[in-house]
Amino acid sequence: MAGDPRVQQILDRALAEVAGARSTSDLEQVRVRVLGRSGQLTTLLRSLGSIPATQRPKVGEQANRAKAELEAAIAARLEALKIEERRRTLQAERPDLTLPGRRPLPGAVHPLTRVTEEIIEVFEGLGFSVAEGPEVESDYYNFAALNFPDDHPARDMQDTFHLGPDALLRTHTSPVQIRAMKAQRPPVRIICLGKVYRRDLLDATHSPMFHQVEGLAVDRHITMADLKATLQLFAREMFGPASAVRFRPSFFPFTEPSAEFDVRCFKCGGDGACRFCKSSGWLEIGGSGMVHPNVLRNVGYDPEEVTGWAFGMGIDRITLLKYEIDDIRLFFDNDLRFLQQFAGLPGR
Ligand code: FA5
Repeated sequence: MAGDPRVQQILDRALAEVAGARSTSDLEQVRVRVLGRSGQLTTLLRSLGSIPATQRPKVGEQANRAKAELEAAIAARLEALKIEERRRTLQAERPDLTLPGRRPLPGAVHPLTRVTEEIIEVFEGLGFSVAEGPEVESDYYNFAALNFPDDHPARDMQDTFHLGPDALLRTHTSPVQIRAMKAQRPPVRIICLGKVYRRDLLDATHSPMFHQVEGLAVDRHITMADLKATLQLFAREMFGPASAVRFRPSFFPFTEPSAEFDVRCFKCGGDGACRFCKSSGWLEIGGSGMVHPNVLRNVGYDPEEVTGWAFGMGIDRITLLKYEIDDIRLFFDNDLRFLQQFAGLPGR
């Protein structure tokens, strides 16, 4: 006997379907329909018990062979389809090399960093070196050593963030003067740049955290004329060759005499009919003066032997003026529309 014709029928049909399968999921459907739990061949094999015993081995063997043949055909077709599908995916996802590229966003140096680096460059050119100090200071360095008497109202000039019994956020960069002078003998020529903190309300020109640069020169025969010449040179580098500097009498506990210094308005050239300088013709830049003899004594220098000058100015304020920006808050908002304007500027 030639076996069960149903087996051959199932096999022939399944093989034709395997050959015609266009995708791996088509193929899976054929497999499930014929070889799955309730597939045609599986069911047939399960029903062997109901056919006459003499035919059973033959039909069983025939069905098993058909099953093996079909499984091999499915495996071969599956392999071919996978290769085909991969080829199609690669084809569909092939990059179009003629499309314009995506330009990466160029980073921009923050305007405060630009001006900070510019200041360093100017003063390094004059023989100053950069000194650093901590942002958390003691009362001694921030006030006492700088000749602020205990409980003197001068301390209120700089409203302080106190962190603990003897820890505060430095209100200016002047404590670095004390640290630098204690660490070396004259001559001293340093600048110190960094963050300072005051309990000032945030508005267009004030921030509770801002940046200062401090300058200090101590040597024999240092005079206020040297200070003015240095600030004059700085102003020309920063604001243009026509810049001039003027002193106004002022008071700081750590300098005597003391002077605020202004730069002639580079918008109106000092004429005064100008919103930029509020019609004064001058822009306020910082404070300065001759180092007070008490400060020199506090660091172990002899005020009979050496003299010195110091200045301190707000880097944020200088940057606002230089780039004609009208609100200090823009520096800290991280708004790309603002910051990107500095991307194209020549770097320093
Ligand atoms: C001082 O801090 C002195 N230590 C400067 C000094 C150093 C004088 C050495 C003499 C010798 P004053 O408090 O004026 O000075 O601050 C200096 C500059 O910091 C100001 O001119 C201003 O540009 C800037 N500044 C002050 N407060 C703020 C603030 N809240 N936000 C932004 N800038 C500020």
